[in-house]
Amino acid sequence: MKISGSLFPFFLFLAFILISRASSAHNKNDFLECLNLQFQKSNSEIDSIYTPQNASYSSVLQSTTRNLRPASNSRQRPLVIITPEHESQIQAAIYCSKKYGIQLKVRSGGHDYEGLSYVSQTPFFIVDMRNLRSISIDTEKNTAWVQTGATLGELYYTIAEKSKTLAFTAGVCPTVGVGGHFSGGGYGMMSRKHGIAADHIIDAKLIDANGQILDRESMGEDLFWAIRGGGGTSFGIVVAFKVKLIVIPQTVTVFNVTRTLDQNATQIVHRWQYVADKIDDNLLLRLFLRSINSSNGKRTIGAFFTSLYLGPVDDLLPIMQEKFPELGLVKEDCTEMPWIESILFFAGFQGESLDVLLNRTQVSTSYFKGKSDYVKQPIPEYGLKSIWKFLNEEDVNRAELQFSPYGGIIDDISESEIPFPHRSGNIFMIHYVVGWSEEENAESQRHINWIRKLYSFMARYVSKSPRDAYFNYRDLDIGMNKIEGNTSYKQASVWGFKYFNNNFRRLVHIKNKVDPTNFFRNEQSIPPVSLW
Ligand code: FDA
Repeated sequence: MKISGSLFPFFLFLAFILISRASSAHNKNDFLECLNLQFQKSNSEIDSIYTPQNASYSSVLQSTTRNLRPASNSRQRPLVIITPEHESQIQAAIYCSKKYGIQLKVRSGGHDYEGLSYVSQTPFFIVDMRNLRSISIDTEKNTAWVQTGATLGELYYTIAEKSKTLAFTAGVCPTVGVGGHFSGGGYGMMSRKHGIAADHIIDAKLIDANGQILDRESMGEDLFWAIRGGGGTSFGIVVAFKVKLIVIPQTVTVFNVTRTLDQNATQIVHRWQYVADKIDDNLLLRLFLRSINSSNGKRTIGAFFTSLYLGPVDDLLPIMQEKFPELGLVKEDCTEMPWIESILFFAGFQGESLDVLLNRTQVSTSYFKGKSDYVKQPIPEYGLKSIWKFLNEEDVNRAELQFSPYGGIIDDISESEIPFPHRSGNIFMIHYVVGWSEEENAESQRHINWIRKLYSFMARYVSKSPRDAYFNYRDLDIGMNKIEGNTSYKQASVWGFKYFNNNFRRLVHIKNKVDPTNFFRNEQSIPPVSLW
């Protein structure tokens, strides 16, 4: 057959597609063979390798997929999921990934807001840490080694089993994974008194891009600095963190108090901004804002004050009466309990057995989009009223703003102590979130547009140059790396300075030393200097 000149480019293109498909199938088979071979060499079970042909593949993939939104937009599914039971399998995965150019994603708890641990635009596989989740507590030295596949619930449960006066400061949701959470910060109900999770890391076990297993001493202080808040993925696979536990009183006090617009919510929320970061460090007054139906059936704003005080109620009440009488807190609003019960209280499991903390998949999955901001000057009352208008534009109870107070010990830690830079000068962090169900997913763009519009409106009230954001509330809208090929420093600095401020530059230099070929990468991973 003679190919006419005008059709020639078409056939050339077709041939290119067929050759690249064949070579990608070839790569995939070789990659699988490589994994099997490497696993056999290290005497490992190959039943920790799941391909789409395996009956359990979908359930393993979905069981810790917390946000269905990124997965629903992605055309790629992981070629393989590996659930290593020891480190040699992770080393094998790194080796084969490099050899066949298949992207490696690591997943601990699967709570990444943009699904970066289980979604990719290029062919990829997942190293899922679920089987590496042992926790050992040393009650004499007040330390714990925790493997990164453990969840916060498992960590809290294990500490409480061993001691009534030891605890750890990290996030509220029990199913969040240690791997991603500690790597990006880890804010929780004790953060004003005890800081964030990453502040308490004292050692770690990491597998680097060369497959070497390193601890604090062998990795050196630069890399050890980078993995305490510099974000998951960029520097290697963290297998375990060693943390310093904190000492807490045997009794803590919790309360949830709601005020609506009829009950002066606007004025109380306004006043809260002058109190929340300055009040006693033992007290963390968190605030959730939603549009709800009031008792007369009309829309109103619900301001939900949800708080933890590290001590008895009789010590808490005088503090509230002196510093925040506007809330009108009374003894009947408060409940005393051991710290571990407060974990159930804030996670919405009050009254249930502590065993619920061991359930890794108990939170229902949904579709959501989140964003974050930092507030350095109180938002005026008219600004709050504009926020209420935005909340009322969404359906009842669908969207939420969480105001998480800073101050306390957070103010005392230098911005460069670890990569997490959000310290002195921040009154509170805003977390914006909007969620919807599977049936409503056809309208996902409407919800995403809503949250983007609100975020754009909020620019006038929040930190500027850079507009700070919290890495653990990952948001690809604030910038991302080029997905195929190499990203540039310029591209990465768009989001990098927002998450890490000036620490971003140091992170780039460290990345250059430990992973100059940019093996560990995703849409928001630190690029090496060589990409300047
Ligand atoms: P996931 O497994 O998705 O990992 C997140 C990122 O870290 C990915 O890029 C992944 O590749 C990487 N990573 C994971 N394991 C790694 C490892 N072992 N080594 C290297 N890189 C690794 N935050 C907060 O501060 N306070 C809170 O109270 C909450 N609450 C909360 C509730 C809910 C319902 C959600 C969905 C999220 C939160 N978060 C939070 C945010 C949470 O801290 C953030 O999403 C963490 O990155 C989640 O860590 P996972 O291991 O679960 O995620």
